[in-house]
Amino acid sequence: MKIAVFVSGSGTNLQVLIDQLHRDNTSGIEISVVISDRKKAYALTRAKEAGIPIYVVRVGDFPDRNAFDAAISRIIDEHEVELIVVAGFMKLFQPVFVQKYRNRIINIHPSLLPAFPGAHPVPDTLAYGVKVSGVSVFFVDEGVDAGAIIAQVPVTVSDDDDEESLLARIHVEEHRLYPQVIRWYAAGRLQIVGRKVIVKEA
Ligand code: GRF
Repeated sequence: MKIAVFVSGSGTNLQVLIDQLHRDNTSGIEISVVISDRKKAYALTRAKEAGIPIYVVRVGDFPDRNAFDAAISRIIDEHEVELIVVAGFMKLFQPVFVQKYRNRIINIHPSLLPAFPGAHPVPDTLAYGVKVSGVSVFFVDEGVDAGAIIAQVPVTVSDDDDEESLLARIHVEEHRLYPQVIRWYAAGRLQIVGRKVIVKEA
């Protein structure tokens, strides 16, 4: 199965996908392309080192968001991508793009959705004072971090946590969960029933 990974930053999740899926010849999963909206994203260095084609597609280089999405869409289709994996990409897809790839775009978010959606989930989590946070992987729909949830893992929040310490523990769980979910998808084990995603037995 060919996947595209969308990034904007450091790319620790991308690295795990490279190491655990792309480089594992038995996985049947190939990262065909990595797309970033930031030229300086360290994730691009990780992709280059793994010999994966990279594209930098910046919103400012296009007349509007639909033109930006159309450019992304062309890359996806040229590379015959079957699953779009969002891993720290800081732009929202427009509804036309989401509709074209419905149930073929997944994202990972460092909170137990629907709590703390948006761009600042970890500071929001700490500010609210919840005792349990976690990781959510979900299908992208037209909303912000609002699509059907595929899998979640809790992470306990400690009284002395700061953003760095909490995010570090969340990352450990992200790096376990994301490759797992992609393997489930590739194996055809995800069944979507309304808002519910059922993980079928292997
Ligand atoms: C992750 O924490 C993910 O949940 C969020 O963005 C972060 C990306 O981190 N959507 P990295 O670039 O994979 O290190």
